[in-house]
Amino acid sequence: MASLTIRKLDEGVKTYLRLRSAQNRRSVEEEVRVILRELIEGREEPLTGSAAPATLSPAPTPQRTSALAEASVTLIIGGGIAAFKSLDLIRRLKERRIEVRCVLTQAAQQFVTPLSVSALSHERVYTDLFDPQSEFDAGHIRLARDCDLIIVAPATADLMAKMANGHADDLASAILLATNRKILIAPAMNPLMWSNSATRRNVAQLGRDGVTFIGPNSGEMAEAGEAGVGRMSEAIEIATAAERLLRPPVPRPLAGKRILITAGPTHEPIDPVRYIANRSSGKQGFAIAAAAQAAGADVILVSGPVDLDDPAGVAVKHVESARNMLEQVEASLPVDIAIFAAAVADWRVANAGEQKLKKTSAGMPPLQLVENPDILATISKMKDKRPPLVIGFAAETEHLIDNAKAKLKRKGCDWIVANDVSPATGVMGGDRNTVHLLTRNEGDIAVDSWPVMTKDQVATELVAHIAKSLANKPLEPAK
Ligand code: C5P
Repeated sequence: MASLTIRKLDEGVKTYLRLRSAQNRRSVEEEVRVILRELIEGREEPLTGSAAPATLSPAPTPQRTSALAEASVTLIIGGGIAAFKSLDLIRRLKERRIEVRCVLTQAAQQFVTPLSVSALSHERVYTDLFDPQSEFDAGHIRLARDCDLIIVAPATADLMAKMANGHADDLASAILLATNRKILIAPAMNPLMWSNSATRRNVAQLGRDGVTFIGPNSGEMAEAGEAGVGRMSEAIEIATAAERLLRPPVPRPLAGKRILITAGPTHEPIDPVRYIANRSSGKQGFAIAAAAQAAGADVILVSGPVDLDDPAGVAVKHVESARNMLEQVEASLPVDIAIFAAAVADWRVANAGEQKLKKTSAGMPPLQLVENPDILATISKMKDKRPPLVIGFAAETEHLIDNAKAKLKRKGCDWIVANDVSPATGVMGGDRNTVHLLTRNEGDIAVDSWPVMTKDQVATELVAHIAKSLANKPLEPAK
């Protein structure tokens, strides 16, 4: 059965649903259910009148206030004096484009009112496990699962004890027991309650259960003259911790590294309209450029003629011939890492015609070939600007490992990615690749054979190997 995410609906439809649900004092989800029920029973209200959408189209695009995409949180407010800070927490979450649906325990209602919480969250507030309006379809299960994160703030000693022992005798504890979402809790209690061995046991148990804690902080208590550990974290600290759980920072192991990659074939002119080429698609080199960029590297991609879009965030230099490629490679130095994935033509036509060659009765024009510069070997053997890590490719159709080992030595690079490009493998132009990584290992050559993967996976794996090798032995900075 398909599921419907209300926050992904058109802005105009959402506005209508918000208006209608506010008017009928229902949550937006309940309103959708009511509309569907009415529709099935053939007595739906027409989309006119006071609840009609003011802006069904065009929908305004919401402005992002933070880098976080929309997410939703169920916020359980426990019964403690710190509950007043949860009002600010709602605001802090919403300004990060996180939707908040609030649940108040009975004790929490002694400190904050459902009215103030719903006014701030713009949503109905939930308080009762046996509420016929929301429980007609097990609403507590929706509150437990229809969100990306559950926050408990303040988490009282009592609520924590219930969580640690799996109680479900009120709405808050039932949600916490029924959820499969991450839970973030912000404890708040008197310092003696926090240090009590019962609470210590519960904290340890909740930690084992995978619950994330924020705070408590130390400071003055509400009780006159008392101070110590037990103050609830500030709203902004809780919101930041929530944001981190909702969107953990992406690891960027190659941040600060400048990487040069060659990709694609080269075209070697015969005359202004004809050229010698090969079947390379450039997909593997482009995938490596994208993976290195995603890992935080500053990437320069020197590409021969290919039918691929430039990877986002990568500086691409488009070239035609091997000699153009060498020029652009040299102009891009110094770099920390150079990866030569291009299928560079070994030869070019020495006597390329300035005009289109004509068929003549004298027969075919003789094409005289001369060797192209070997870009990989040239860069590997450079004296001053040699990148600290140089990686070549060996595309072979026979004796793969032996030929690749010989190539590693002959060209003077540090690693070789060897792959079998026999027509039967479908590697040339295809999306999959089976590679072996050859690395120099104390005078010997180590061979690491990878299973068949997509070219994107090969790229990610290669970038992971580079990152691991940098972590073990940092490179000398590029000069
Ligand atoms: O000699 P072979 O073409 O098999 O070597 C393959 C490796 O050398 C690849 O890394 C390729 O990008 C690089 N190469 C180069 N310039 C050439 C020929 C190959 O950079 N002219």
